[in-house]
Amino acid sequence: MSEEFSNHSDNRAFEDVLNTYMSRRKLIVGSLAGAALTFMGGSVASASASKGATTGAKVAAKAPKIGFTSIPLQNSAMPTIAPEYTYSVLIPWREKLDGSGTSFDYIGFTAEQQEKSIGIGHDGMWYFGDDKKGLLCINHEYGTTPHIMGKKVPTSLEEVRLSQAAHGMSVVAIVKSGNKWKIAKSAKNRRIHGNTVAKMSGPAASSELLVNAAGNKIQGTLNNCANGKTPWGTYLTCEENFNGYFGTTSTTWKPSAEQTRYGVVAAGFGYDWHKFDPRFDLANASYANEVNRFGWVVEVDPNEPKSAPIKRTALGRVKHEGAELVIGKGGRAVVYMGDDERFDYVYKFVSRANWKTMIKEGVSPLDEGTLYVARFDDNGTGAWIELSPKNATLSSWTLDKILVHTRLAADAVGATKMDRPEWIAGAPTGEMYVTLTNNTQRGTVGKAGVDKANPTSVNTYGHIVRFKDANDYIGGTFTWEVFALAKDVTDAGGQMFGSPDGIWVDPDNRVFVQTDGEQPGKQNDQLLVSSGVTKEFKRLFTGVKGSEVTGVTVTPDRRTMFVNLQHPGDGDPTISNFPANFQGMGGPVPRDCTIVITRKNGGVVGS
Ligand code: FEO
Ligand code: CA
Ligand code: CA
Repeated sequence: MSEEFSNHSDNRAFEDVLNTYMSRRKLIVGSLAGAALTFMGGSVASASASKGATTGAKVAAKAPKIGFTSIPLQNSAMPTIAPEYTYSVLIPWREKLDGSGTSFDYIGFTAEQQEKSIGIGHDGMWYFGDDKKGLLCINHEYGTTPHIMGKKVPTSLEEVRLSQAAHGMSVVAIVKSGNKWKIAKSAKNRRIHGNTVAKMSGPAASSELLVNAAGNKIQGTLNNCANGKTPWGTYLTCEENFNGYFGTTSTTWKPSAEQTRYGVVAAGFGYDWHKFDPRFDLANASYANEVNRFGWVVEVDPNEPKSAPIKRTALGRVKHEGAELVIGKGGRAVVYMGDDERFDYVYKFVSRANWKTMIKEGVSPLDEGTLYVARFDDNGTGAWIELSPKNATLSSWTLDKILVHTRLAADAVGATKMDRPEWIAGAPTGEMYVTLTNNTQRGTVGKAGVDKANPTSVNTYGHIVRFKDANDYIGGTFTWEVFALAKDVTDAGGQMFGSPDGIWVDPDNRVFVQTDGEQPGKQNDQLLVSSGVTKEFKRLFTGVKGSEVTGVTVTPDRRTMFVNLQHPGDGDPTISNFPANFQGMGGPVPRDCTIVITRKNGGVVGS
């Protein structure tokens, strides 16, 4: 989803910095900056091969094998895949959690049924298991209203409840039976949705900014976009465009400055929940702070089906895209996060101490630590700016205010405005990749102008930046480079992709990129595989018309990959009715689903 941007602060836009940097790069030789630029200019592998990422593994900086046949872009109502590969469909929207392999009918579908079946808007996910069985945690970002309930806007509270129940996430046991994966019956199968009772934790948990007059409980998670996972076995689900669910018909309601910075407006995104559910009515005094209860990274324990989801306030409140957790120096939990809006920022959280020690003390590593925001400097280096009252610029702020109104704190300290930071992925080399999906307003609003690195001020196709922190992830500085400008990545068919969004790097340094948005020739979204060493790209899979391709996770042997098709046909069966009539699936409307990808010869996916 995208929307109007809401960052009107004076901070320098990333594209300004990039342009200046790319010009200066030609001039600087030798010097400290020059040393940093060696890292930027093609010696990435040798400069960075020694640090482990999530697993702590060390890999040689040799190019990974990407041996499959790259396929052309497509404009098809059906997916396509490289000839060495095959795919099947798993957990379409409305499939029952009971393991029966059956689904609720679309006609007459109720909120109660939705709470017992797979949600819609399949997005970020993670697989916790072995090569044949495990738990899949999957986000359900959003669903277009007509698609879910067959009408443009809800006309009753029951219909609002159906929409709310379709959001959130699923935990579902899956098992490989022969060559096919399916839902298994399990007491751990569950749905967390827009009305599930949740908890707040961390420094802002008891903030007055999160209290409502009614004293009502914390409820629900919404717009669950990308994700993360922790080494202690939990899943992180991230709340992105939460603002769109709130609205009001009141003509006297006016947004606060903080609400405006988060894009909160009377019309919302057209969900119209506020007309039937007072919790989402911005003018209802009993729910004055309800909107502040969204925009968090939420931790879920997939192995404890009765546990409440926990919103971790120490990680700040933004339109969280994802939360990539790596283990830094001294065993610190380090979480990288993008805030997906035009001109918004990249963040990092570092736990107070070794994560194992903190857990032994009974403290969540995600409850105590320091939040930072990134400044990308012209010379290919950058700085992590602390977001706490210890920062002189924020000395008059309380910590809870910084964590609830994180965007405004980041504005104040001079963070770098980026082109919609989406997923961030850690590589085995210690590098972090961040997708910057697009920003068509860069030239007019960011005053970036045009140079050789950005030949158009309208960044229609986006780019990917990679950076590497000093001091084994916990340092205050980093070096960075542009990994790919999408408009310049070509093969025999021309430009290969646009709007990079999902990203994951495998232990061999294969970079899997998934797209959501404009593709060359307006063709379908796709899954590409790139080499972290040579930067070569190949196209492995294309989605169907009107869908995005998102969410990537694998079995430990990497012989099975799961990716998601979100909103096939944009919900319109005349555009694509996938996966109806595929592998025995039917239905009058398309169904968001997971695609299972395997190599025909049983090899590692991507090879
Ligand atoms: Fe939910 Fe920024 O994609
Ligand atoms: Ca996304
Ligand atoms: Ca996107």
